[in-house]
Parts: sequence; structure tokens; C-alpha cells
Amino acid sequence: MRKKFVAANWKMYTNRVGAQQLAADVVKGLAGDDRVTVALCPPFPYLAFVADAVKGSKVVLGAQNMYPDKEGAFTGEVSPTMLLDVGCTHVILGHSERRHKLGESDWFINQKVRSALAAGLQVILCVGETLDERKSNQTDAVLDRQLTQGLVDVAAADTPRLVVAYEPVWAIGTGHNATPEQAQEAHAFLRRRFGQIFSEKAAVALPIQYGGSVKPDNAAILFAQPDVDGGLIGGASLKADSFLAIVRAGIS
Ligand code: 13P
Repeated sequence: MRKKFVAANWKMYTNRVGAQQLAADVVKGLAGDDRVTVALCPPFPYLAFVADAVKGSKVVLGAQNMYPDKEGAFTGEVSPTMLLDVGCTHVILGHSERRHKLGESDWFINQKVRSALAAGLQVILCVGETLDERKSNQTDAVLDRQLTQGLVDVAAADTPRLVVAYEPVWAIGTGHNATPEQAQEAHAFLRRRFGQIFSEKAAVALPIQYGGSVKPDNAAILFAQPDVDGGLIGGASLKADSFLAIVRAGIS
């Protein structure tokens, strides 16, 4: 059985003291319980502080983005080696806010995915359709495109370091989560496609997180779906109590 994986995407929220406290509270609340893999993904300036707060615990550190190059004249960007250097094991790539608000293309996201994997990071690749795309029955086509193009030239040997997050754009920060049936359907589709791209074995092992208005009161039913292997949590990850309740919903 796949281990559940719940990641906190703090987006552009928290401050230094708040981030340290939140991380410390999550570590304390888990009390060493690692039945669910837990990752915290703070904003760049707080990565090193949160790294200190989770040191010695089972909680892992992730970044919310990166630039594909190792170093260079890329003002304002952060490289995979820098992320590793401050203690990150994971990086979120292709988040819908980067696709839709910052104009990132499937091609650019693929550059990042390959670079992150080559550097030794684990990648949480986000995919998801907009409301218009869902209404016009393009959900499968969009998921197919984002998955396939995001994974161009990824080696089969690297698939154990991949996580896919299904985040329907219309469910992010809106309070309207996908129904468990909608989530299951999309996850099953993504797993099937992943299996066609790589192998059945890789697909069976792939963790697929659901993201989009996951809260303590809907997490258990979402995580109970056979192809939902945890969540990528935005708003509800900013309070230790609600985040911990969501993590606990992943304990089976
Ligand atoms: P919300 O949980 O706030 O809807 O955000 C989901 C998300 O975008 C996580 O990456």
C-alpha cells in the first residue's frame, strides 16, 4: 500500500517568527509519528529557519518553486543546488498559481522537473484543469497534456522521486473542493496515463496528492479514495491544528 503524503504549501504567507512557530508546532503535534509523510513548503526566505525547526524530526522540507539552472545570471531566481544546500528534499513545480498567474508553460515546467530530479530532489508536479476546461469536458485532455509534457525525457529510474498533485484550479482557495468521486476519477486517470508513459509498476508506486480546499472535515473522505494518496494543503496548512487534523485523516 502507498504511504500517505501530506504537504503544506504555505504560499506567500507567514513571517519568520510565525513560520518557525508553525513548523515547531507541527513537529510537536506529530510527536515522531511518521505513518504519514509530512512536508512543509515555506516561502524561500524562511526555508533555512524551518529547516532548523524540523531538524531531528521526520518532517521534511520542500520549496515552492525553483529555476532549472544550477547557477548563473538569473536575478531573483533560486537553483536546485541552493535548495538542497538549505535542507530541502522536495520541490513543488507547476503549481497552478505559477502556470496561470506567472505564465509558466509546460515546457518550462518540464525543464525544472528534469533539473530538480537531476540534482537529487523529489518533485511534486502539480496538474489541474480550470473551471472552463472542466465545463467544456477538457479535464482529461488538460491533465494528459500537463502530465505528459511535464515528464518529457524523465528517466524511468527517477520515477520513485516523483509525486503528482491533482489540483483543480476551481477548487484552490475557493472552499469548493472536488467531490471524492471527481478526485478519484482524475487520480485514476493520472495513474493510468503515468503507467502508459512509464510502467504499471511505477504507476502503482506513484503517490498522487489531491489539493484544493482540503480541510479537516473533508480530508478523511478524500484520502479514503483508492487513488488519493494524501494532499497538498494551502490555507488549512497555516494553522498547526487544522494541518495536523488533516495529517491524522491520512492515518489508516
Ligand atoms: P487551498 O488548500 O488553500 O485551496 O490551496 C490548495 C493549493 O493550492 C495547495 O498547493
